[in-house]
Formats: sequence, structure tokens, C-alpha cells
Amino acid sequence: MRSLREAFGQFATGVAVITTATDDGERAGVTVNSFTSVSLDPPLVLWCLSNRAPSAPLFLRAGRFAVNVLAADQDHLSRRFATPSTDKFAGVELLGAPLPILAGTLASFVCRTERVHDGGDHHIFVGAVEGYQRAEGEPLVFHSGRYREFWPELTTAAGAA
Ligand SMILES: Cc1cc2nc3c(=O)[nH]c(=O)nc-3n(C[C@H](O)[C@H](O)[C@H](O)COP(=O)(O)O)c2cc1C
Repeated sequence: MRSLREAFGQFATGVAVITTATDDGERAGVTVNSFTSVSLDPPLVLWCLSNRAPSAPLFLRAGRFAVNVLAADQDHLSRRFATPSTDKFAGVELLGAPLPILAGTLASFVCRTERVHDGGDHHIFVGAVEGYQRAEGEPLVFHSGRYREFWPELTTAAGAA
């Protein structure tokens, strides 16, 4: 199992925080690297959530979610939403309502849960994208169990005088 996890971990990914809220104001947020775009027409995305995640019942009940694509300087948010806690949102700057949209991300997608498939020990959430926004910046990258950053492009010195 560990060796398979390590082999899966060789696939470098971005990092997203998936958030949700119910009509009565209960919120949840989880860090994932299983987010994938699926279809442009219709616009669909997917992500996978462990059956054993404490937040799973809330995501299943809420019927909607937001995908927050983290920027390179947001590893603290990745750690926070990957750690079980009663209030992961305390002190986190939010932009949206009714779904919690994190500030300072590279992109966010507001989705209605279209289908939930059985994926072994995970639920596969397929979402229909109802709105999105994007910004410029470097992504937070996850590979082999570690956060990575892109090196900034170097400006060549030739002709710089
Ligand atoms: C970089 C990274 C990626 C992760 N990807 C996933 C994922 O795709 N699916 C998942 O269920 N958990 C994933 N996790 C673990 C969850 O973030 C973690 O179990 C979290 O505590 C779940 O939230 P909950 O305890 O509030 O249910 C990931 C953690 C990290 C640090």
C-alpha cells in the first residue's frame, strides 16, 4: 500500500481546497490533489474524497462545492485544510457567499454536484461548473509528498546594459 502510494505520488499535481456550505451555514473544506478538469462542453470537473473523511457527509448533503486552486505562497492554506479541525476557516480571508471562496487563489470554480460515483475507498464527485474566476500567478505544486515551487524564469544578462 505504501509503495503504491509512493508510485502514485510521482505524478506531480497542483493543490486545491474544495469548500462547501449547507443552507443552514455548516461549512467544510478539504485539501486535495485529485482535482481534474473533465469536460468543456458541458463544463465538468471531478475530485475524490476519502469515504472516511469526517467532512464527507457534509459534502454529500450540500450538493454543491467550490474548487479553490492554490497559488505558490498558499501552502499554509493547504496544510490548514488537510488537518482535521473544528474551524478550519478561522482567520481565513473569504470572498464568496454562499460558498466559501478563498482569497488570493489562481482560480476558483463554483459547482453543483452532478453525480457522486463509488471509487473504492473514495467518493468521486463530478461537478457542473456554474461560475469561475482566474488570476495570474505561480501554482502550488505537490510531488512525492512534498510541496514544490517553480523557479522564476531568469532574465538573461546579455544586452541588459
Ligand atoms: C497535498 C494534499 C493532497 C490531498 N489530497 C486529497 C484528496 O485528493 N482526497 C482526499 O480525500 N484527501 C486528500 N488529502 C487529505 C485531506 O486533505 C485530509 O484528510 C483532510 O483532513 C480531510 O478533511 P476533513 O478531515 O475535514 O474531512 C490531501 C492532503 C494533502 C496535504
